[in-house]
Amino acid sequence: MISLKDVSFYYKRGKPIFEHLNLEIPSKLITFIVGPNGGGKTTLGKLMAGILKPQSGVVLVDSLNTKTVPLAELGAKVGYLFQEPERQIFAATVRDEIGFVLSLRDKPQGEIATIVDAVLEQFQLTHLAAVSPLKLSRGEKQRLAIAAIMVNQPQFFILDEPTTGLDRERIDILSGVIEDLQQRGIGMAIISHDQSFVRRHAQQVITVAGGEIVDVAAYHP
Ligand SMILES: Nc1ncnc2c1ncn2[C@@H]1O[C@H](COP(=O)(O)OP(=O)(O)OP(=O)(O)O)[C@@H](O)[C@H]1O
Ligand SMILES: [Mg+2]
Repeated sequence: MISLKDVSFYYKRGKPIFEHLNLEIPSKLITFIVGPNGGGKTTLGKLMAGILKPQSGVVLVDSLNTKTVPLAELGAKVGYLFQEPERQIFAATVRDEIGFVLSLRDKPQGEIATIVDAVLEQFQLTHLAAVSPLKLSRGEKQRLAIAAIMVNQPQFFILDEPTTGLDRERIDILSGVIEDLQQRGIGMAIISHDQSFVRRHAQQVITVAGGEIVDVAAYHP
């Protein structure tokens, strides 16, 4: 589903983060991306989602080149959760944040409300529906950001540190969502430092350090 071919990338005024990187991420598996701080995990996730573009080489999402396809088109295919949830929260209320994507489509208001109510319930955000997202705690913001990308029903998810700020109970809810998506044939790339979370869900683990893929391990649960 997502393939990087001979990808080189550097931030402005920086040394190269990746050089001649080749990587294939399977479309239906749960692939974890692990490794030390600063190793390039977030950069890799953003390249995979088309948020960053390589200076050379190509990134293909379902055979679409991220350099030439509009981000909105990629966004409908790949749901991306930023490491900092504030980065993707902008509506006036929690309810509007979740309903935003649906309101862009030609869906009737009643249908939108039904979907939004179900997602609010699923992520235990119902009591916060009318609150400004800016007033939420870290864990609540994280749940809201995840809920808002789920509503888009993408075919693939890239989640950067999704358990950050979540307590055990909320991690369990997220785990249930991940298992449910997996059963529906939806794949994911998840960046995580949470060892028990990795053990629980990983079908493949890619270790990134110093801009290199230092290990790829497959698991067959
Ligand atoms: N916007 C940026 N501009 C310049 N350099 C950056 C930028 N973002 C990241 N870097 C650098 O790129 C390298 C890889 O960073 P990246 O955020 O991809 O690592 P990471 O593996 O996600 O780390 P962490 O575990 O801390 O989230 C680091 O050396 C970092 O300083
Ligand atoms: Mg990171």
